[in-house]
Amino acid sequence: MSHENTATSTLPTGHPRELASAPGSEWWRSAVIYQIYPRSFADASGDGIGDLAGITQRLESLANLGVDAVWLSPFFRSPQKDAGYDVSDYCNVDPIFGTLDDFDALRDRAHELGLRVIVDLVPNHCSSEHEWFQEAMAAGPGSPERDRFIFRPGTGESGELPPNNWHSMFGGPAWTRTTNADGTPGDWYLHLFDSTQPDFDWTNPWVWEQFRQILRFWLDRGVDGFRVDVAHGLMKAEGLPDIDEVDEADSELAEGLMGSLEVPYWGQETVHAVYRDWHAVLAEYEGDRVLCAEAWVEPLAKAALWVRPDEMHQAFNFSYLATPWLAPRLRDVITESLEAFTGVGAPSTWVLSNHDVVRHASRLGLAPYSAGPVSGIGPSSPEKPDAALGLHRARAATALMLALPGSAYLYQGEELGLPEVIELDDDYRQDPSFHRTAGEVYGRDGCRVPIPWEPDAPAFGFNTTGESWLPQPETFAQFAHSAQAGVEGSTLELYRRALALRAEYGFGLGALTWLEGYGDDVIAFRNGDVTVIANLGDAPVEVPAGEVVLASDPLDAGSIPRDTTVWVTA
Ligand code: GLC
Repeated sequence: MSHENTATSTLPTGHPRELASAPGSEWWRSAVIYQIYPRSFADASGDGIGDLAGITQRLESLANLGVDAVWLSPFFRSPQKDAGYDVSDYCNVDPIFGTLDDFDALRDRAHELGLRVIVDLVPNHCSSEHEWFQEAMAAGPGSPERDRFIFRPGTGESGELPPNNWHSMFGGPAWTRTTNADGTPGDWYLHLFDSTQPDFDWTNPWVWEQFRQILRFWLDRGVDGFRVDVAHGLMKAEGLPDIDEVDEADSELAEGLMGSLEVPYWGQETVHAVYRDWHAVLAEYEGDRVLCAEAWVEPLAKAALWVRPDEMHQAFNFSYLATPWLAPRLRDVITESLEAFTGVGAPSTWVLSNHDVVRHASRLGLAPYSAGPVSGIGPSSPEKPDAALGLHRARAATALMLALPGSAYLYQGEELGLPEVIELDDDYRQDPSFHRTAGEVYGRDGCRVPIPWEPDAPAFGFNTTGESWLPQPETFAQFAHSAQAGVEGSTLELYRRALALRAEYGFGLGALTWLEGYGDDVIAFRNGDVTVIANLGDAPVEVPAGEVVLASDPLDAGSIPRDTTVWVTA
């Protein structure tokens, strides 16, 4: 690893001084950030797994889409037991994705196109193949190397039971027992996720120093910020107390990750000191770099703690993502979001899809729209989404989201209206949650299938060889990028227009005023000079006077039909 410890590094940072804003303009307050899932975006090598060179080749399409930044899910060295969220070297690129030179080329091309680049930082755990963990295993109990992680003796007569009753988010116990050098059973180590993802001990200053150096490595390399994985984890309550037993798998997997349970590993007060430390590191650098928290905590007022002025800049709004398509609930979560985040001086963010949840074009076609983080849907799930309804609502939901003040996150493929892939053979499924629950939970593979670029090309243009790490269904042809580009009414053109108008009207830095007089099933507000109406009910809503500049689907003789959003300028 090479660690440059100052902001005046001689590495070619390629940092975009000319990008949009002057220093201090806080571009992220209104930015639309597009999540690239590197395995599944574009594959230049043709081996069936996407790569950095593939991304670079396709970046122009994102500039044309009109987003401000890209966030790349992990492309670091990793045995890929959790699709790269198991990092074995934080300061290098995994050969399946390319090299550091490929990263530099991507960064330069992105900056040339006016796109900022955010990378994923995974500080709660590393891979069990990371040299730090390998050294800890070799060094044995009581060593400083073991203190980097959370090793504990077992309970029971001869330590045969885990140290406490915590569950892994992916199913099964959160502890794995080690074997001593002499072959006898040894201590246990904690992993809130897969057994190949040992949790760091963040009470150890050594861990703090490693992560400062990792931040600096990428800041020196010109990244514009970090999305911080499991930012509500890291610190565990002293003594690692048992949790109150809950009804096993279901609530653990779905709600446990959302942090609505009071558990001794999520949202501990002590975690905030870490982000204050990182805030100070980023502040040493010019160019307005950002930290975005993946903190699955509720209520929103709690999530807002991650974005107090001396901590992170943004936090994903998972409460918004998890809100059903019901107008009263959406009005409440929007109000609550704006209050909670602006209350601490941060922008609200908005997000509908990512690599951990059922794609919103399918989720919104499910009743009761609940297939949440990790759980996924598959061939024998009790609920099958109504595809047409889901897409119709997804378009309306996106048009609503992009009219809100603050910053928005898009997940690759949603601009194509891509559905979740449900009919995926078990043999292909790679998500550890599928394997750790013996298939009881389908997991997240269905939202991670490589995206289609061209309807008739091999692998729908994902590469030129036709290989694909997860099989793409035939129906992807109709969603292909080139099949939608320039086609009036396509989902891609809806996104493009919405993003262009959002920028033109300054929605991101705008303010929301609710409009009264519409029914319970209607969301109606003004952002600046634009009236935004989303009709979620059966009764048609009259289009207000003015020019309709955006409609998520065709209007019906002057009225807004069910599950349709319009933007109207007076
Ligand atoms: C986050 C990531 C998810 C990953 C988990 C463990 O929730 O988004 O994909 O599996 O952390 O790193």
